[in-house]
Amino acid sequence: MKIFVPPIKSQGIKTKLVEWISSNVKEIQFERWVEPFMGTGVVAFNVRPKKALLCDSNPHLINFYKAIQNKEITSGIVRNFLNEEGSKLLETEGKHYYTVRERFNEFGNPLDFLFLSRSCFNGMMRFNRKGGFNVPFCKKPNRFAQALVTKITNQIENISQIIAQGDYEFKHQDFNQTLLELKSSDFVYSDPPYIGRHVDYFDSWTEDEEFMLNNGLEVSNCKFILSTWLSNKYRTNDYVFSIWKDCYIATKEHFYHVGGKETNRNAVYEAILSNIELKDSITNDEMKSRIENDDSQLTSKAKVYEIPQQLTLMLEEPPLKSLNKSLKKKADLLTNA
Ligand SMILES: C[S@@+](CC[C@H](N)C(=O)[O-])C[C@H]1O[C@@H](n2cnc3c(N)ncnc32)[C@H](O)[C@@H]1O
Repeated sequence: MKIFVPPIKSQGIKTKLVEWISSNVKEIQFERWVEPFMGTGVVAFNVRPKKALLCDSNPHLINFYKAIQNKEITSGIVRNFLNEEGSKLLETEGKHYYTVRERFNEFGNPLDFLFLSRSCFNGMMRFNRKGGFNVPFCKKPNRFAQALVTKITNQIENISQIIAQGDYEFKHQDFNQTLLELKSSDFVYSDPPYIGRHVDYFDSWTEDEEFMLNNGLEVSNCKFILSTWLSNKYRTNDYVFSIWKDCYIATKEHFYHVGGKETNRNAVYEAILSNIELKDSITNDEMKSRIENDDSQLTSKAKVYEIPQQLTLMLEEPPLKSLNKSLKKKADLLTNA
């Protein structure tokens, strides 16, 4: 499956899980795809439903996609904008990033949002208590070199076409409002913030909200799936067995990398919960007994990667920094895939 990567970055982006999620919803019939927490939109843009309602409490995400939809933002406009602002970034040795950040926090221009998303530290999305974007610069004054500008321009072009081909509505609203607008023929993909993980102006989440989401989905009578995590090295997500106890569950192992070292790969079992049986799912009760019996928590087959021996050996060597860049990138791709 070719994955379309959106032009906006965010720490909660599901790019690596899109293929798995898509394969689990492929056979399901629905009239409209609804996301109360669309984030970057990567899931909807790859599932590519005919009709969709895509919502988020972060107004900047919604404004950005609305601007693409009404052609205020096109690939040509983005190319010129990034070339121009990128030159200023280079000339000022990076200081221009903070001029754009101030400008964005005053006027909220979606092009400035794109600029910040692609030149901030680690592609993070974080807002302070007043709703101001507060991520620092990635410290690469030549960030918008031609290769990256072309890559972003292509991403804009792809997403513009996907949006133009579908009947998509983007709404800036709280998930409770989205739940009120559901029809029983809708299919809901719900990807709320993980409880206790983020504390951000537009992106925080409490136990009460998790209950409200569960209740709203139940009374809607819609088929739904919910993205969450099941377990990591340290603990299990107990909400899966309390609030979501009546659901089916499918899991997949996912590695988060902290730095380049093999030993810094943290495995997390990502989960999708659903009120209908999915291709990879088992019942929640069965999962509970697997955990109690120390059995595998994987419901989807582990992928077998053909990593060349040479590459495996090199990954185990400590001074990864000394690896030539392209080889390291290739190794990351293989281990991340
Ligand atoms: C985990 S992210 C979604 C990621 C998305 N699936 C993707 O792949 O990019 C959660 C999203 O929920 C949004 N959000 C947080 N609280 C919300 C609320 N009360 N109502 C609606 N959206 C909310 C955040 O702004 C964020 O974009």
